Amino acid sequence: MAREVTHEAQGPTVLDESDMGDDDQIYVCRCGLSDDGALCDGSHNATADEAESVVYKYANDDADGERRAIDEIVYEEE
Ligand code: FES
Repeated sequence: MAREVTHEAQGPTVLDESDMGDDDQIYVCRCGLSDDGALCDGSHNATADEAESVVYKYANDDADGERRAIDEIVYEEE
């Protein structure tokens, strides 16, 4: 139950009261699949059936994208 996501932002997102939901809470995305930047948009529901010991990659880092299991992450030599 892990997933590889690609982040392209090079700076922080500032959150304020306009980001609060109806319950006056701010929900920060931790799954990496939200289409709403740093804010949770419910896309994490796509991860509900992920297996515990598998690493996944979602096409375009989108919950609607094709989901693939990753065998191994290979890092490029520098
Ligand atoms: S935690 Fe990522 S969309 Fe909810």
